[in-house]
Amino acid sequence: MEKKIEQIKASFLSDIQKVKSFQEFESLRVSYLGKKGQIQGLYQSLKDADPSERPRLGKEINEIRNLIEAKLQEVRSKFEQKKTSKKLDTTLPGRMPFIGRKHPLTQILDEMKRFFLNLGFSVADGPEVETDFYNFGALNFPENHPARDMQDTLFISQDILLRTHTSPVQIRTMMKQSPPVRIIAPGRVYRRDTPDASHSPFFHQVEGLFVDKGISFGDLKAVIQEFAKYMFGKEIHVRFRPSFFPFTEPSMEYDFNCPFCKGKGCKVCKYTGWVEISGAGMVHPNVFKAVGYDPEIYTGYAFGMGVDRIAMLKYDIDDIRLFFENDLRFLEQF
Ligand code: PHE
Repeated sequence: MEKKIEQIKASFLSDIQKVKSFQEFESLRVSYLGKKGQIQGLYQSLKDADPSERPRLGKEINEIRNLIEAKLQEVRSKFEQKKTSKKLDTTLPGRMPFIGRKHPLTQILDEMKRFFLNLGFSVADGPEVETDFYNFGALNFPENHPARDMQDTLFISQDILLRTHTSPVQIRTMMKQSPPVRIIAPGRVYRRDTPDASHSPFFHQVEGLFVDKGISFGDLKAVIQEFAKYMFGKEIHVRFRPSFFPFTEPSMEYDFNCPFCKGKGCKVCKYTGWVEISGAGMVHPNVFKAVGYDPEIYTGYAFGMGVDRIAMLKYDIDDIRLFFENDLRFLEQF
């Protein structure tokens, strides 16, 4: 038995010198340490040995097994190093890290902000969860007036709601500062709408407000016209239509002529040649009274702008829902 152990040790030590490939290494390993390998064989023949000798022999077998394992480990790391150094191809081009980008709506909003900041407007902000007072009351919507139904409001409680427009920021800003006021207020608004290609229960507006002495309706028309040219080029036409909002008087809605068909009529503009952008008007005296401004001294204009609408026109997108699905295949195109 002892002789056998010595023999195995000697043959292993000479075999291991001859190993040249990973396959050879593997078959050597199996032949010594495998389930039916020589070391296992030694353990099995222990049962034929003299019981008093068994502990000593067992110890010897353990030692040689440890030796074999250690040697194999040494040799294996050589092969593994070789394998990985072969895999490293330094001529391969590097992997580009994934680069994020701004959401198309953010890009449009940045462009809109740039226009108004150049004209001396600053950016104001307000909460999306509003009170009835800021969203309706201070904006001259009488209690129980059907005008409150004009927009399908999502109420949280009787007095708290998701803002249906960015106009409450007009009130918040005017209550905080005295005239002149020249702000835009971009943000998300909510209405109870069933989603389809042109409706979403939330969308985005940019509110504009300019209050000072001697501000006129002509100023309002000019700023909207200049904005349209800035976003869509010199050929764009703007149409103003009389309308009603409780917080402006006179009020209007305004349209851009359809940038797709240049006003000839197509599916996007429903064959009218015009696309509705939002509403605007001169600030109602009651709104000035609600915030403590003197309507005998100050006048002002206010406008809304549909950001999603403008982005759809600019980027040729026919479904508003695409903005909110966050599908990278869509977002990566901008
Ligand atoms: N707040 C109005 C809307 O959401 C738009 C508007 C803004 C009208 C400012 C007039 C003045 O439809």
